[in-house]
Amino acid sequence: MLSRKIRCKSHGQDSSYFLGWQEYEKNPFDPIDNPSGIIQMGLAENQLSFDHMESWIARNQESHSFMQGGGRSLFRELALFQDYRGLPEFKSELAKYMSKIRQNKVTFDPNKLVLTAGATSANETLMFCLAELGGAFLIPTPYYPGFDRDLKWRTDVEIVPINCSSSNNFRITLPAVEQAYQQAQKLHLNVKGLLITNPSNPLGTSLTLGELRLLITFAIDKNIHIVSDEIYSGTVFEKPRFRSILEALDHENNSSVADQVHVVSSLSKDLGLPGFRIGMIYSNNESLISAATKMSSFGLISSQSQFLLSKILADGKFIKKYVLENRRRLKKRQEMLISGLEKTGIKCLESNAGLFCWVDMRHLLASDTFEAEMELWEKMLREYGLNVSPGSSFHCSEPGWFRVCFANMAKETLDLSVQRIRSMVDSKLENVI
Ligand SMILES: Cc1ncc(COP(=O)(O)O)c(C=O)c1O
Repeated sequence: MLSRKIRCKSHGQDSSYFLGWQEYEKNPFDPIDNPSGIIQMGLAENQLSFDHMESWIARNQESHSFMQGGGRSLFRELALFQDYRGLPEFKSELAKYMSKIRQNKVTFDPNKLVLTAGATSANETLMFCLAELGGAFLIPTPYYPGFDRDLKWRTDVEIVPINCSSSNNFRITLPAVEQAYQQAQKLHLNVKGLLITNPSNPLGTSLTLGELRLLITFAIDKNIHIVSDEIYSGTVFEKPRFRSILEALDHENNSSVADQVHVVSSLSKDLGLPGFRIGMIYSNNESLISAATKMSSFGLISSQSQFLLSKILADGKFIKKYVLENRRRLKKRQEMLISGLEKTGIKCLESNAGLFCWVDMRHLLASDTFEAEMELWEKMLREYGLNVSPGSSFHCSEPGWFRVCFANMAKETLDLSVQRIRSMVDSKLENVI
C-alpha cells in the first residue's frame, strides 16, 4: 500500500508533455540505426555547445581529478564535505556568473544564495517556505508543465493561472492578473505570491520593464511574494536584453518589497548541464534564506559537482567565450526553425531567448478545440514521428499552439523534422482540396 500523496494525481505525469517523452523512448530517432524513429522536439535541452565544455574539460584534467595547485589531492576533503551551505568558492563563482549574465546590472551576494539540486528543487523549496495547504501562487499562462509537479504535488499549494492570450502576444496585463487574484479568492485560496518565468518557457520571450513594474506594484498592493524563475536568463540571444526582476526592483527603488522578491536559477539551460543538478535560490530575505538553507538538505548538490563547476566558472575568459558563442548558436538554430516553418505557412511567436519556439498551428486544427489540438499532436507523433508539446500541456487558454525545441539535436535532425512537418502540412492541404 502506498501513501495518498504518492497516489494523488497532481504530479502531472499523465500530461501529454510527459506522454510524448514516453512514446519517444519506445522508438527514438537515430540517423543510422532508426531513421524513421520519433524525433524528440519536446525536450528543452541545450546540446549546442558541448564541444566547448568538453574541450575545457580536456584542457583542465586536474579539475576533475580533484587536484589543487601544487599537485595536492582534495579527494578526501570533498568526499567528507558536509556543510549544507555549499563550498564557499563555488558560491562565490556562481554569484559572479549570475551577475555577468545580467551584464553586471545587478550584483549577487553569495551569502544570500541557497544551493539546490536544480531549479526543480529550488521552486519546490520556495513553495514549502512561503505557502501551505490553502495557499496559492498566480502564474501567467502558458507555463512550464513541470510546475504542476514542482509547486503543487508535495506542498499542497495551488496554482491559479493568469490567462494571457495571443491577442497581445501573451503579454502580462494588469486586468489578467487582477482576474486571477479574484478567481483565487472565489476559490477561498490565500494568494501568497506570483511566479513568473523570465525569459518564458514556452514563449521564448523576456518580460519587459513595464511588465516587471506592473508585477512589483501588484505585489506591494496585495502584500504578496514574487518568485522569478530566471533559468533561461543566459539564453537571451537577441534584443531586448534580459532584465532580471532584481534590476526592476533597483530601478523602482522599491526597498519595501525587496524582502518579498526571490530569484530561482540553475545551470541546466545556458550551460547545458541538467544532469549536474545545479540550482539556486537568491533572496534578500534573511529568514527565507535561513529556512531554505535548512530545507536544502533534501536536495543538495554533490561536492564533486560544486568543485568542478567552481573551476569552470572561475575561468572568466572561457565563460565569456562560451556564453557569446552559445547565444550565437541558439540564434542561428531559432532562425533555421522559423524560416523552415515559414516555408510551410506556419508562423512562430517572435522570440529572443530559450531553446524553443512557440508555434502557431491554429490553422491546421480541424476545429477550434483542445480535442482537435490533441488530434493534431497524435498525428504528428504517430504518423510523422515528431514529439512536439501541445499548448494545453502548458495550460495555454487557446488551442492550436505548440512548443517546438530546437537545441537538443543535430542540425541535420532539425532539417529532417522540418521536412516531416512540411509533408504533414502538404497532406492536410491535399485532404482539404
Ligand atoms: C521554467 C523552468 N523551471 C525549472 C526547470 C527545471 O530545471 P532544472 O533541470 O534545473 O531542475 C525547467 C526545465 O525545463 C524550466 O523550464
